[in-house]
Amino acid sequence: MYPTLTSLVVLGAAWLIYKLLSIGRRDKSLPPGPPTLPILGNIHLIPPKFTFLKFSEWAQEYGGIISVKVANQTIIVLSDMKSVKELLDDRISETSSRPFLYALDVVTGGNVFSFAPADNHVWKTSRKAIQPLVTPQAVQTHLPISETETTQLLYDILHGPEVDFRSHVSRFAFSFITSVLFGKPAPRYNSPESTQYREYTHQLLKTVSPEAAPVDLIPILKYIPERWAPFKQLWRETRRLQRALYFSFLEHTEQKVTSGNKTGSMIEDVLRRQSELGISRELTGYLGGILIDGGTDTSSALLQSLVLRLMKSPASLRKAQNEVDTVVGKKRLPVSSDVSALPYVQALIKEIHRMTPAGPVGVPHAAFTDCQYREYTIPKGAPIIINIWGIMHDPDLFERPDEFWPERYLLTPDGTRPGIEKDYNIRSTLPFGSGKRLCPGMHLANMNLNLAVMRLIWAFDFAPIGGPIPQPEKWNVADEYTYVRANLIT
Ligand code: HEM
Repeated sequence: MYPTLTSLVVLGAAWLIYKLLSIGRRDKSLPPGPPTLPILGNIHLIPPKFTFLKFSEWAQEYGGIISVKVANQTIIVLSDMKSVKELLDDRISETSSRPFLYALDVVTGGNVFSFAPADNHVWKTSRKAIQPLVTPQAVQTHLPISETETTQLLYDILHGPEVDFRSHVSRFAFSFITSVLFGKPAPRYNSPESTQYREYTHQLLKTVSPEAAPVDLIPILKYIPERWAPFKQLWRETRRLQRALYFSFLEHTEQKVTSGNKTGSMIEDVLRRQSELGISRELTGYLGGILIDGGTDTSSALLQSLVLRLMKSPASLRKAQNEVDTVVGKKRLPVSSDVSALPYVQALIKEIHRMTPAGPVGVPHAAFTDCQYREYTIPKGAPIIINIWGIMHDPDLFERPDEFWPERYLLTPDGTRPGIEKDYNIRSTLPFGSGKRLCPGMHLANMNLNLAVMRLIWAFDFAPIGGPIPQPEKWNVADEYTYVRANLIT
């Protein structure tokens, strides 16, 4: 007996409906998570901003490792330190890849090592090139730049207190990083390179935002011709702006090298070792550019958050000022070596990393192949998000986690509740990520931020001066992140 055409059509339709309805459903092998809707999965539950707040809420309900369904895709969210340690820190050979983002790949031609899988040559060559330049010892060679830039930061604030504080700080963070990398400072907020950088990052954020064009969810969108796909024009423009910025900096350094006016910058060093490293000019340009991207807004956001916090906590500011005044006095500026004699200032910096991490959800990792963790399957390529904010606000680890209380770091080295067992694995480097992908700029950032914080506290009082923005005392965490910068990876 042969099936009739009608029965084939009915069977086919039933299969199609079954398949469609299974889109968005959570497979039993995945970690738990919020209930799904057919096709949507959890899309309707995910807020467009401050996702870390929702992830933290879900962690309370479903546990430290959850899965979130975005149509047919799966996102894994880790909100406890134990799973970050076991899955990311300890299993780097399996989980140090990145999820593939089509738009980013088109824009950058796959040259961005911060989003390349850790087994490909872009990542390996780029990290090898910078590894000797970012050690705690190596970054000390850039201390004079930090001293110059922090001095200018004080000067700018002193002579322009009416200018939005954020402009001074973002100039400082950008100029420090471009000086270290390329030997080219940006002396003004409106220096051409600073303006170019802001225009480019603004464009890049539009490009990678899922609302721009969800090509990773709906791959067929890739095939729409450019004249009907405004998002492809956006990609093209972003590529143009990115290359213009990255390669103008590279050319600047190349010219310095050719004319014998070396500055000791990091990219000069990479150019010197170019053939030994087997790194092309193209990849060198992207390497330098990615480091600008990684190093600017992170440091800027952290400093801005700190100042905001000190305005909300005048008692902490006073305590830090007293400490600095006692150790440093009024006759000289704080210098890098002072920080070890300033435990309260150190605690303040740790507390701001905890309260408002610059990247509250870090940068997603991914597994190279399907892998097993506890009783769960972690699907190949699925984003694995570290909910850094959530872990740093875990009430089991931190007493009164929502309170700005630097003293917690004077009571215990990790700021955790006194007396709790050490098997929670928290580490002070968590705000810088995990495993093989741990932030390569960590020591450089710490050196510069330590000096900036000491000097700001030494030089100024901070208080709101009114104006159109609401008084910071009333702000909640979302307001703070919004104010600090629109560019955070949330
Ligand atoms: C307050 C300062 C900073 C914070 C909080 C921070 C945080 C982070 C985090 C959370 C990650 C993701 C790590 C992971 O995937 O697990 C990361 C990666 C990265 N950061 Fe930073 N960062 C800072 C400063 C810097 C600086 C100064 C640079 C450049 C000099 C930099 C360059 C990078 C790069 C290139 C990556 C990607 C690494 C890779 O994928 O292999 N960051 N950072």
